[in-house]
Amino acid sequence: MTDQENKQKIEEKIAKMYKLKGIAMQGGGDARIDSQHAKGKLTARERVDLLCDNGTFREMDMLVHHHATQLGLDKTVPLGDGVVTGFAEVLGKKVYLFSQDFTVLGGSLAEMHGKKICKIMDMALKTGAPVIGLNDSGGARVQEGVISLGAYAEIFLRNTMASGVVPQISLIMGPCAGGAVYSPAITDFVIMVKHTSYMFVTGPKVVKTVTHEELSSEALGGAETHASKSGVAHFVAENDVEAIEIVRQLLTYLPSNNAEEPPFVPNNDPVNRADEELNYIVPANPNQPYDMKDIIKIIADKHEFFEVHKDYAQNILVGFIRLGGRSIGVVANQPAVLAGVLDIDASKKAARFIRFCDSFNIPLLTLEDVPGFLPGSDQEWRGIITNGAKLLYSYCEATVPKVTVITRKAYGGAYDVMSSKHIRGDLNYAWPSAELAVMGAKGAVEIIFKKEIESSPEPSVREAELIDEYNERFANPYIAASYGYIDDIIEPKHTRQMLIEAFSLLENKVDKNPPRKHGNIPM
Ligand code: HXC
Repeated sequence: MTDQENKQKIEEKIAKMYKLKGIAMQGGGDARIDSQHAKGKLTARERVDLLCDNGTFREMDMLVHHHATQLGLDKTVPLGDGVVTGFAEVLGKKVYLFSQDFTVLGGSLAEMHGKKICKIMDMALKTGAPVIGLNDSGGARVQEGVISLGAYAEIFLRNTMASGVVPQISLIMGPCAGGAVYSPAITDFVIMVKHTSYMFVTGPKVVKTVTHEELSSEALGGAETHASKSGVAHFVAENDVEAIEIVRQLLTYLPSNNAEEPPFVPNNDPVNRADEELNYIVPANPNQPYDMKDIIKIIADKHEFFEVHKDYAQNILVGFIRLGGRSIGVVANQPAVLAGVLDIDASKKAARFIRFCDSFNIPLLTLEDVPGFLPGSDQEWRGIITNGAKLLYSYCEATVPKVTVITRKAYGGAYDVMSSKHIRGDLNYAWPSAELAVMGAKGAVEIIFKKEIESSPEPSVREAELIDEYNERFANPYIAASYGYIDDIIEPKHTRQMLIEAFSLLENKVDKNPPRKHGNIPM
């Protein structure tokens, strides 16, 4: 063979490779791509481009295809099998990702599609990098039957093995129905796009047959439903672009794996910034609400609070801030909603967040103003005992640095639960406005002085006197301080500096739980 012939042969081989890759790049073709765009959705590849730092995405398994022949599948053998997979950098950090392509067989998941996802999950686990899943799929590929179900199960297993080892983030950007919902459900964060995504175990038609309820997909399992009612979604985005931006921001707070520390992001916000307004933020009247978010934002570096689960159980706040550049998970009672009471949803929301932070070495700040657990038959019958115990258990088992600031009420069992020193809170501070007691004055007086009040000539006057006396004696932080249950009472304006010092002090904290297979958290 002449050199010229040799060169030509090689060029033919290279051209063949590019031709095949070009075919794979076309996905389901122009008509289906147009239809995807018409629904307000980006394509799988457009989403990947937006998510990844420019030029860093390396696709894998582009030429994988199914080997099935049933029900006419042999006539449609798309390259890539309906999912784009690979690795990339996001804000300079390595991630693995998959992006389902609805334009190819409806993004349906079957043997090879599932294998592609499992491959990147296995690599993520081996190399300690987050997994980001962009879900847009008609679910189990009907034609491949039980093989599709098996493929899902392989993913569920990997989701579970990766839990607490590498962060897993799910974007729901189209349909996600049936058992398919359980992969995102196991992951750490779910981001849903308004109006174009939905998640449900059974769709509106089956629901209508079984329960006679008539609901749209959006009402049954749309983004707002899951963000506010079920808590399945941690974030809601207006569109695909916003959803991807949320992921990029979220990643800035997270380490790549459980053996790493979270990223340190230095900034110019002074460590010793004193905030006079904090001194006056808690109203003197204990029944008057205020917005705990204001406190979080005043304390945080650059006043930034990246809130998680914003629309769910709003009586508790969870999310990330930075303090002196450190990534910190915040759990805070919200007196502006239901007086900040702990109920089932608030307990579950905070417990899951605490466990996430503890898994990934993110220190916890607890801001406490809690009147107790919500009373009533609804809560009791639906299991406030078991669900409240989730929160308690999560705080107890967490070994990351834990710092608490009691701004006002710390009543009853809720005092113990909210990262008290008794359950390994490292540094617990109180503001002078704090009230640490078994319960509020009115309830306490009605129990202890029932007979005295009833026998008094003017019961309401006597009750008011007793309430004043009780408040004077018990509604303060000084008794707790006298036992060392709080480490110091601080002037609110110095809170930021105290917290930055506290987390710096605790930087090298080592604490361990006893060896065991795993604990048995009340489920
Ligand atoms: C094979 C599928 C498919 C599926 C969609 N397609 N879902 N192919 N298996 N599960 C194909 C369609 O045939 C169509 O192909 C193309 O994808 C686009 O679908 P359309 O129906 O035209 O799109 P749209 O009108 O937007 O409706 C989307 C949809 C609908 C609502 C998702 O396709 C649908 O209801 N699909 C079935 C959903 C489902 O029941 N899946 C199983 C869920 S149970 P052509 O060639 O015509 O363009 C499940 C179990 C998981 O997933 C179990 C894990 C344990």
